[in-house]
Amino acid sequence: MSGQIGVTGLATMGANLARNLARHGHQVVVHNRTAAKTDALLEAHGDEGDFVRADSPQELVDKLEQPRTVVIMVAAGDPTDAVISEIAPLLAEGDVLVDGGNARYTDTIRRTEELGGRGVHFVGCGISGGEEGALNGPSIMPGGSAEAYAIVGPVLEDISAHVDGEPCCTHVGTDGAGHFVKMVHNGIEYADMQLIAEAYDLLRQGLGLSPAEIGDVFATWNEGDLQSYLIEITAEVLRHTDGKTGKPFVDVVLDEAEQKGTGRWTVQSALDLGTPVSGIAEAVFARALSGHVDQRKAAQKVLPGPGRDWDDQVADRDGFVESVRQALYAAKVVAYSQGFDQIARGAEANGWDVDRAALAAIWRDGCIIRAAFLDRVRQVFTDEPDLTTLLTNEYFRDAVADAQEGWRQVVAGAARHGVPAPGFASALAYYDGLRAERSPAALIQGLRDRFGSHTYRRVDAEGSFHTMWSEDRREVSA
Ligand code: 6PG
Repeated sequence: MSGQIGVTGLATMGANLARNLARHGHQVVVHNRTAAKTDALLEAHGDEGDFVRADSPQELVDKLEQPRTVVIMVAAGDPTDAVISEIAPLLAEGDVLVDGGNARYTDTIRRTEELGGRGVHFVGCGISGGEEGALNGPSIMPGGSAEAYAIVGPVLEDISAHVDGEPCCTHVGTDGAGHFVKMVHNGIEYADMQLIAEAYDLLRQGLGLSPAEIGDVFATWNEGDLQSYLIEITAEVLRHTDGKTGKPFVDVVLDEAEQKGTGRWTVQSALDLGTPVSGIAEAVFARALSGHVDQRKAAQKVLPGPGRDWDDQVADRDGFVESVRQALYAAKVVAYSQGFDQIARGAEANGWDVDRAALAAIWRDGCIIRAAFLDRVRQVFTDEPDLTTLLTNEYFRDAVADAQEGWRQVVAGAARHGVPAPGFASALAYYDGLRAERSPAALIQGLRDRFGSHTYRRVDAEGSFHTMWSEDRREVSA
């Protein structure tokens, strides 16, 4: 198939997406605010396909046939609004504007409404896979109307990654659905990386392995249940030696993690939805803690701990490595389960019909969280579309049960030896909270009623009740 499409914003992601489109036989009208980026793209890659240069938004629109499709590839937030306000007035009814940035889904809902008023279809489109993905086939999560997907969907499917001939692109739902799902994808990405980092830290502190040796462990793990892009590149990064100092690369990198915002948005949205995404929250907060350098410096000097001598673990190196692998696997299943819960709750709250099986399918390749395990997740949601939580599915229930012993040992060992493992520990607390027959929330309800007459419900009667705490402690119906 071939068609015509415009791309505005030719920084690395935009330029690579334009090249991907051109390589697939589409005529690509390329535009950038500063002409130098357009020049650079055409000079270096102009021979890869049918590029048409546009030097202004008007030219971009004029060079496309109706119904036009223009993909915006600029930074999220104000820059996106600025480009939309330049291009939208030039478009005609039935044209499609695609935002391929990491927009906040509430902005996408607003923009869809604004543009819908002019008859322009707006497609808020999550694109994952980084620079390589944009060029060679990303995972694509478009939102918007079915009508818009009918126009732009085939092109997006064409340039996406494929698994066994299936495109890693699906119509996620209306308005903000695509960007919502991309946001949660990024949240899961944060959780995944935090767990990987904890596994690395435990192997280093528990066994005294070098980064390169730990890289070898990750490479082995990448051949089993944990097989995924992030595990693969962890091995690569850990094995890398700094060219300047000859030290392990990971030892010369400042230990302060940055973030652009999608993880934080995921947690903010989860708080509003009341969905516990503790794995993602721990990951966001661990990044924040890493950046509080003054507090860390002050604490290093004065806060006592148990010392980090793990002689008992060193004795059983393979056993410890296996326990850490089990902890990583189990906590990862929890993080994904929580992420899919948030997607289900978000879909419900916003009236989107999101198919979790289809999402797992399009995350199997192209995106940052691509993993063999998503094939299984897809199967589970296909077989049980109404599944309450991934963790209760028979396959994952058994897989986590098998990993439980190592997981508990690692969490206990980390606490005993003073190694922070918030991701592993909070995932385990969530798991135990989920399976507990009685939760201590009953006491919380009692306290709320005691200090604020907030009422409670009983296990043996319908309705709400209040105890007259400051009088005769009689119970009354509320
Ligand atoms: C992707 C990535 C991509 C980007 C992250 C990085 O799916 O391709 O998630 O969107 O690399 O936004 O996020 P932080 O800078 O917040 O870690």
